[in-house]
Amino acid sequence: MSHHPPEPFRIKMVEQIHLINNTGRKQALESAGFNLFKLRSEDIFIDLLTDSGTGAMSQDQWSALMHGDESYAGARSYFRLDQAVTDIFGFRYFIPTHQGRAAEHILSLLLVKQGQYVPSNMHFDTTDANIRARGAHPTNLVIDEAYDPSNRHPFKGNLDIEKLEQLILEKGVDNIPLGMLTITNNAGGGQPVSLENIRKVSQTYHKYGIPFFIDACRFAENSYFIKLREPGYSQKSTIEIAREIFALADGATMSAKKDALVNIGGFLAMNDENLYKQSCNELILREGFPTYGGLAGRDLDAIATGLREGLNEDYLDYRLGQTAYLAERLLESGIPVIEPPGGHAVYIDAGQFLSHLPPSQFPGQALSAELYLEGGIRSVEIGSVMFAFPDPQTGEMIHPQMELVRLAIPRRVYTQSHLDYVVTTLQKIAKRKDSVPGYRITYAPELLRHFTANFEPLVSN
Ligand SMILES: Cc1ncc(COP(=O)(O)O)c(C=O)c1O
Repeated sequence: MSHHPPEPFRIKMVEQIHLINNTGRKQALESAGFNLFKLRSEDIFIDLLTDSGTGAMSQDQWSALMHGDESYAGARSYFRLDQAVTDIFGFRYFIPTHQGRAAEHILSLLLVKQGQYVPSNMHFDTTDANIRARGAHPTNLVIDEAYDPSNRHPFKGNLDIEKLEQLILEKGVDNIPLGMLTITNNAGGGQPVSLENIRKVSQTYHKYGIPFFIDACRFAENSYFIKLREPGYSQKSTIEIAREIFALADGATMSAKKDALVNIGGFLAMNDENLYKQSCNELILREGFPTYGGLAGRDLDAIATGLREGLNEDYLDYRLGQTAYLAERLLESGIPVIEPPGGHAVYIDAGQFLSHLPPSQFPGQALSAELYLEGGIRSVEIGSVMFAFPDPQTGEMIHPQMELVRLAIPRRVYTQSHLDYVVTTLQKIAKRKDSVPGYRITYAPELLRHFTANFEPLVSN
């Protein structure tokens, strides 16, 4: 069993949760169109849908809220956030946004044109959709090891530099308005990217004059993985590693709902003054004045405090240990998960676990539904529901390489016994897994369909 330190905090406030009975869960799922996003949270026992905005704030963050300055312009809260962002990320400019996708939207709107290509290791769904919404092509160039769930490469989020060079040569520099890198790589299992790789990605983009933006949502977890796994970094502090990472980039999009340990917020940071000015105009049009960007002053204070807490190494040690504990217990039970476990979540290889279901019957969706029916646990499918799309030429569905179910662990929320309950529930499903039915979609919008699609089981059990 790997290092799994106890929670480095005491619980001062609690929120009641309750497991509704079997019949209630069946009815709730049916009336949600078998889409777990549409369930009411009171019908859920353990909610592992996402680690985004679902964390518990600390006493320091709650007290920071009381210092929120709600001035429309020039609020003290903004300057406190500015100090934290500048200290950690070091970019010349930043604008707050209400969450990560607002930053992605502004960046895509200003830089990306129809028919262009935006490379990354892997884009997450909102980044992918924001690029597609501009008529462009999000292009995933993660190393091949990332697609082998049992390969224990320490940095499975790395971008394949050869694939990147090939894309640039094939499509031409003029068709690549920016290059990205997601740390950690959420869509590929929450896997970290090494500093060596970040440096090479930066050199390659810059060799061709392509601006380099980091999707920084889980930068603290990625930095701690570097400290633990990359030669030469064990003596560096996590904040020093973070600074080294961002010094290699021209900007970043950030959803503060992850490693800034808050329930809402984000920002877009950059070095380019012209891009900053244009971003401010877009921000004013949709989000708000550049010193609050769609957030309350108190939110800015909570982010400023949370950014520093997210880098605390006792916290990160516990956080990564908790994820590793869940993954190990599942593996012991014969449930295939992506190895090694990532930072914020354990990803079950649903394609392998429910191998009787082809991608067109959505094995990830099927397992998510079953986890709810069996134990009131909410997870999320990261597979064909989220990422399959029709080939523009033939109209035939192109499925992603992996059919996953993500068990995302909210920060500082659940204890080890909650995780043990998740393991027991999956053990029960494993005993009857061959009878788990596939699903078909009965309604889906064109973009980001997983949020609002409806499903029905192909065979009722
Ligand atoms: C890697 C990554 N990028 C971007 C986002 C979008 O952030 P937000 O939900 O704050 O819009 C997410 C959210 O889950 C994410 O995981």
